[in-house]
Amino acid sequence: MSVQFEERRKIFKLDTAHTTYMMGITNEGYLGHLYYGDRVKHFCGDEALRLAEYPGPAAREREKQAFLSVFPFEYPTGGVGDYRESCLNVRNAKGQNGCELWFDSYEIMEGKPGLEGLPASFGNEKEVTTLKVVMKDPVLKLRVELFYSAFETEDVITRNVILRNEGNEPLTVDRVLSAALDMDDQSLEMLTLNGAWARERHIQRRRIGYGKQSVGSIRGVSSPQEHPFLALLSPSADQKHGDVYAMNFVYSGNFLAETHKEHMGNVRMVMGIHPEGFSWALEPGAAFTAPEVVMTFSSEGLGKMTRSYHDFFRKHLIRSPYKDLDRPILINNWEATYFNFDADKLLGIAKDAAACGIEMFVMDDGWFGRRDSDNCALGDWVVNEEKLSGGLKKLVDGVKALGMKFGIWFEPEMISEDSDLYRAHPDYAIQIPGRRPTLARNQLVLDFSRKEVRDTVYEMVYRVLKSADIDYVKWDMNRYLADLGSLSLDAEHHGELFHRYVLGLYEMQQRLLDDFPELLLENCSSGGASFDAGMLYYSPQIWTSDDTDAIERLRIQEGTELVYPMSTMGAHVSKCPNEQVGRNTPFETRANVALAGTFGYELNIAELPEEDRKKIPGQVARYHRFHSLIANGNYYRIHSWCEEEPWDCWENAEKDGSRALLTYVQVLGRPYTLSRNVKLEGLDAEAEYTVSKIQDGEETPVEGTFYGDVLMKSGLWMPALGDYQSCLFVIERK
Ligand code: GLA
Repeated sequence: MSVQFEERRKIFKLDTAHTTYMMGITNEGYLGHLYYGDRVKHFCGDEALRLAEYPGPAAREREKQAFLSVFPFEYPTGGVGDYRESCLNVRNAKGQNGCELWFDSYEIMEGKPGLEGLPASFGNEKEVTTLKVVMKDPVLKLRVELFYSAFETEDVITRNVILRNEGNEPLTVDRVLSAALDMDDQSLEMLTLNGAWARERHIQRRRIGYGKQSVGSIRGVSSPQEHPFLALLSPSADQKHGDVYAMNFVYSGNFLAETHKEHMGNVRMVMGIHPEGFSWALEPGAAFTAPEVVMTFSSEGLGKMTRSYHDFFRKHLIRSPYKDLDRPILINNWEATYFNFDADKLLGIAKDAAACGIEMFVMDDGWFGRRDSDNCALGDWVVNEEKLSGGLKKLVDGVKALGMKFGIWFEPEMISEDSDLYRAHPDYAIQIPGRRPTLARNQLVLDFSRKEVRDTVYEMVYRVLKSADIDYVKWDMNRYLADLGSLSLDAEHHGELFHRYVLGLYEMQQRLLDDFPELLLENCSSGGASFDAGMLYYSPQIWTSDDTDAIERLRIQEGTELVYPMSTMGAHVSKCPNEQVGRNTPFETRANVALAGTFGYELNIAELPEEDRKKIPGQVARYHRFHSLIANGNYYRIHSWCEEEPWDCWENAEKDGSRALLTYVQVLGRPYTLSRNVKLEGLDAEAEYTVSKIQDGEETPVEGTFYGDVLMKSGLWMPALGDYQSCLFVIERK
């Protein structure tokens, strides 16, 4: 039984294979956090609730404020005397803010209920057990259901919250976060993923000090600047050692992830929808579902956290029929042509690609309306037959005749002012009447909170997809939300627009998958601005970054694969000099780095040097040889490059230790150096292995006798390489 309740002391205990989570109910009915950490067999005491400490039971009423401001609340509320970051602020019909929750009842269920309108993890009765704790505020007549789902094998506990107005008066929810974790500070550090366009998800680590430290987004998307992930680490934690408490948000809109170290030195960690710009009118009888947070704890450092997340997302979040399959190796024409193409040019690119073994052609931006630049035509999802003479079907059939699949780009959430759609329906764009809306890439965002807007766009997209045999859609989103104004919402409901927009987006993506169940959907947002767990529920792969430079990609991919399975990272080989940074890297290294994700090309093969072109069939074969290992095996981060040690190295090992692939990239070469020792992980200690090296497309056996224990303890020796050079090592059990 992975969820238990001890009646006598009123303690809930949730167990996964290696972790335990405990919370207790006080005599008054507060729900407090007791423990999250390594799995323990017995129930703990309630010392963590500090009930005997100041102000003590006798003065609990007299000094209630002091009590509320230190008690480790499982789900803290605002307005009544806990001055730390609150998860729930609710106003009554008079506009007065105050909410206090007392335990009401609980229910333990096998399996896990879905979340209405939202992406959510899933599992059957054998895989997950759910605890629902019902808390109530009798004054507001508000019922708050806290859900905790323990996924035993993956060491994950998911949390979400449902609010229900059980009274007769309307309530206004000003903030509703999805999870909090109160703990004693142990000199914790916080790890976040920060960046920008073309520099997404770089790892940042800093000491937690007094006060609040947060990452968040108020851009309407999860954003490349800050990412809906937060981990607290013990100070010495590294890949293999130390405690890690992590939260990841299954949501693609505004978020807040924060630590708050208060005056007594306790730390509160919270995650949820960002309260800025948010409010929700909760009418009598109505419910609000807050999105899900995925928590995991590891006492074996970040590596174990990563592997728990990878296993969890692969098994319990991604639904696509492609999730366990090799993905078609694609070639995308964006960097090869930008807007300057016609059907012949595209077919030419496809033909050269097919000859090299590439399996899918993706037509990027520019095929619709009068879209000859990024200034116009978004919203006009009708094929431009001047560019694609004979129509889309003719092009698709031409590509199919080459034995390739066909993919197409859309940006359904957007509208250009210079478009037929805007001319007919200017009110479809999110904007505040009387105020010139802020443009980005010369475009505006469609009001996806409105059904008629979603329907109009969906019908156009549907018609295009029905008109030809299309296998793949790249769903792009190239600006953030601003000037929040919607025709469909009155003043009382306007704070709902951000969230209603995200719900509309999810509804659209689900509709697409329902109508085209075999479709391979790849989300994208100016590169990787919406690479988040919410999107993974709809698309098994997401374009990681517009930065395709192999060296820049090392940090981007390392931050991404810290949380997300490698099979989810769109990664392509592009031309040199690189379009984003002007760097020249060897073709081999570009392919070795892209091999870590869903492999593809973003260039015109006809413009490649002959020696590079000749390497493509070998790279294609290598992807198919290793993808299931990379996609489904264990990932180990061996080394992260830095100025003093400018080399990067990671390993993918089969779960049974039968095979591993080691990728080694020399970011900068050093003169007069020797080979470098690298210790492998995840092998079978008793087994004997063969080792071969793949460099410049050639695979050569490495001489010697290699046992698993020796490879893991004594290591393998990497050659000294020059700038940007790389090689692969294949380790196979005899
Ligand atoms: C975004 C995407 C690119 C490409 C362009 C097309 O920037 O990230 O991959 O599709 O849009 O406009």
